[in-house]
Amino acid sequence: MSSTSIAPAIKQTLSEHAKQDLVKGIKCKFESDHDRVAHTSYDIADIHFDFSKTHIDQSMLEVYADYAAKIEFQTKRHALFAGERVNVTEGRSVLHTLLRDPGNQGIEMVRPETLTQAQAARAALLNQYQDIQAQLAERATPIRNIIHVGIGGSALGPQLISEALSGVNPDIKIHFISNIDGHQLVDALDRCDVESTLVIGVSKTFTTAETLQNIDSVSDWFRAQGVTQPLANFYAVTAYPDNAVKYGIPQSNIVSFPEWVGGRYSVWSSVSLSAALVFGIEKFEEFLAGAAEMDRHFYQTEPVDNVCFIAAALDHYYTNFMHAKSRAIFAYDHRLRSLVDYLQQLETESNGKDRQVDGSPVDQQTSAVIWGGVGTDVQHSVFQMLHQGTSLIPSEFILVAKADHELDSHHQELLANGVAQTAALLAGQDLDKINELHGEEQLSDLTKQAKIFSGERPSTTMLLSQLTPRTLGALLAFYEHRTFCGGVLVNINSYDQMGVELGKRLAKQVNPMLDPSTPASEVQKNVEGFDASTLDLIARIRQA
Ligand code: F6P
Repeated sequence: MSSTSIAPAIKQTLSEHAKQDLVKGIKCKFESDHDRVAHTSYDIADIHFDFSKTHIDQSMLEVYADYAAKIEFQTKRHALFAGERVNVTEGRSVLHTLLRDPGNQGIEMVRPETLTQAQAARAALLNQYQDIQAQLAERATPIRNIIHVGIGGSALGPQLISEALSGVNPDIKIHFISNIDGHQLVDALDRCDVESTLVIGVSKTFTTAETLQNIDSVSDWFRAQGVTQPLANFYAVTAYPDNAVKYGIPQSNIVSFPEWVGGRYSVWSSVSLSAALVFGIEKFEEFLAGAAEMDRHFYQTEPVDNVCFIAAALDHYYTNFMHAKSRAIFAYDHRLRSLVDYLQQLETESNGKDRQVDGSPVDQQTSAVIWGGVGTDVQHSVFQMLHQGTSLIPSEFILVAKADHELDSHHQELLANGVAQTAALLAGQDLDKINELHGEEQLSDLTKQAKIFSGERPSTTMLLSQLTPRTLGALLAFYEHRTFCGGVLVNINSYDQMGVELGKRLAKQVNPMLDPSTPASEVQKNVEGFDASTLDLIARIRQA
């Protein structure tokens, strides 16, 4: 891939555009285009995307279309789908989309064997799923708990989809053990018993320290309760089955997936086995189909009409030209309570980088900080800052039109709140309105000033007709492609994650230094390279 950054003329135009936008705002765009909502909204896979309350307009989109052409966006998109090794630092293709459509929309593959690998991966998941179901049916004690051990992409996706799609009080409860923090493990084990618990260790590499240590401790727990060979009944999901075999998992209990599926893009693979065991493989297939629908939109649509590209262009515009440092995501649905965690990894591990694809320093702002939460809870905490804080924080609201419970008044209230927040962020509240509302009350000037909302704060709304496997699949695929577009716009490799490695290496060095049985003289030998604060913390922990 070539090193192509933003052309100076495009940068200049966008920067002028942003200056105007900062002065004029968003409301005037509604006044100058009475069909603005229609012109800036899109419907794909039963999701309505409404960008009208952002600074988007035709002239901005045209500049971004020009930008896309200059950086050969369409060639790069094709390279991704065709299986070129777009992850240049690790020499890998990025083909999780193949798991959603093993026919790859008819796109010719650079390596045709990837199609066979994708089919084999889907078949392996189905076979293992059916085998486990058959075994479970024969058990004297039914399985009530699954311990899913995995971290990062090996946990966040399955956790999200199991919460979103399992319904209320499913027969099987999944306990996700990701953190090395023993409190999490103890808490989960305390809720399980050996007779009714199935263990699945999930790790793309099957070398991740936290995951292996957690599986060790889970097997110790089984042994302590009389199960002599626990690993014989554990399952493993990995792209490197040899590592799982070496660890001691029987070959027949391993379900593998191809190495061209990245960790944070692996929710579409057998990594989601535990979730599928809870809500059924049929729903999982619908989830894949929903994502494939978004893939088709993304691959086949010109940038100016492409929701993934448009969202990424707006992200780029806000971070680079309007100085936004973060972006907030609010899901107005309890079942999507893990969405922000999932998207944080997806976007920031993909695009939080400072090198271009050729290794030179990046000359633009890359990923914003992704944060957020669940509505309406967030309204009683961070929304103060969203409405009256001094930073520009583009926000997005994910609403689900139809609930799957019968408490209609709750759902109506929930949606009323979500919609009202988007209106309030845009409209704001001026002194005239405050006087109109509080005319009788003799408010002090001080109080009136405090009640002013500047408004003109951008938000995007995504309205799902219902939370189904299909809409969830399409929504996550939308975020993935948006992340890809974001990476292409700033010319980075979105698919490696070197930034997580330094800390991991140092943790290995620090670990023995904390061990009270390591003599101080030994600790002293390893202090080189550590700063005074770190050494002080090590000393204090040794003492404790
Ligand atoms: O922290 C880096 C990372 O490699 C993530 O990208 C990944 O999702 C996570 O660790 C877990 O890795 P694995 O699935 O190999 O255990």
